[in-house]
Amino acid sequence: MKNKIIVTGGCGYIGSHTVIELIDNNFEVVIIDDLSNSSKKTLDRIHQITGVKPIFVELDLKDASKTSMVFSEHKDAKAVIHFAASKAVGESVKNPLKYYKNNLYSLLNTLSAQIENGINNFIFSSSATVYGTPEVLPITEENKTQRPFSAYGNTKKIAEEILEDLINSNDSFSAISLRYFNPIGAHESGLIGELPSGIPNNLMPYITQTAVGLREKLMVYGNDYPTPDGTPIRDYIHVLDLANAHVIAVKRLLLQKQETALETFNLGTGKGFSVLDVIKSFEEVSGINLNYEIVERRPGDVPQLFASTDLAKLKLGWSANKTLNEMISSSWQWEKKLRDGNL
Ligand code: WQD
Repeated sequence: MKNKIIVTGGCGYIGSHTVIELIDNNFEVVIIDDLSNSSKKTLDRIHQITGVKPIFVELDLKDASKTSMVFSEHKDAKAVIHFAASKAVGESVKNPLKYYKNNLYSLLNTLSAQIENGINNFIFSSSATVYGTPEVLPITEENKTQRPFSAYGNTKKIAEEILEDLINSNDSFSAISLRYFNPIGAHESGLIGELPSGIPNNLMPYITQTAVGLREKLMVYGNDYPTPDGTPIRDYIHVLDLANAHVIAVKRLLLQKQETALETFNLGTGKGFSVLDVIKSFEEVSGINLNYEIVERRPGDVPQLFASTDLAKLKLGWSANKTLNEMISSSWQWEKKLRDGNL
């Protein structure tokens, strides 16, 4: 009998890669997704890659009664991995209420439906953005969180605080919050990857879309930061390494190996690369001279963010192992397949 896992936002970028890793680890998966920022085609590609088509429920988690009903139909689930959220940082600054409503109502309804149905294990998709502008690097989980610049980031920080209060009030509930640094890359099959709607906010998809001619040039947001080459440094992590960490975290909860009711782990590589490093690596991998221009800084960007990965290594026995070139090469393969039109 396979253990059933509910994955909210499972048609999304990180969600779909995690679903594949769960299926490959002999879990039964139920995807809940409202398809607001993903495509149902992803289900066919998951099927193509794994040979298994996950159970799919199209549902807006902001609808409390429908959410409660769907969870009661899957009360045999052993855990929930919660990816479902809006995640465009820039948009969240312009339209904060959309982000607070969507991300927090969805979270609250998911948690309530779990409690109602006795599903007491929860994995949360958090973000390094909860650290704000770090005073100490590399960032450990002990670094205090700061009020993130964007409403998107603040929904992640508030969510973690909700989890703290929940586990303090309910001693049967356990949660693991995974703080992602900068997820990039795509599945080696080239069948799934990042599918930004509209103009990409994030660096990697903007680079690959520029390289295929969809965008005229990449704007590099500032080279006057206090870093070796003046451009901001980030900890880029392959989405497959990220997916692997989620499966390890689920197994930890199912085996009741967690040491506290709420555990928090950074998911990064521990290595920082600048924007110009990423561009250089892309040019190396693709053989293309990327068209870019240095422009003004982007509001809210911090100079450096990279993770201490010691805790995840020690407690989860997990560390990222894909190199920057492997990450970039997989993103580039995905972009080219997307544009071949055969996806
Ligand atoms: C990386 C670097 C930009 C685009 C955000 C969220 C985080 C996570 C990932 C959501 C920065 C520079 C970018 C461009 C550029 N969540 N850049 N030109 O801002 O580190 O993190 O996305 O998925 O929670 O905060 O990622 O990829 O936007 O930017 O120069 O067109 O690339 O200034 O230094 P970021 P990013």
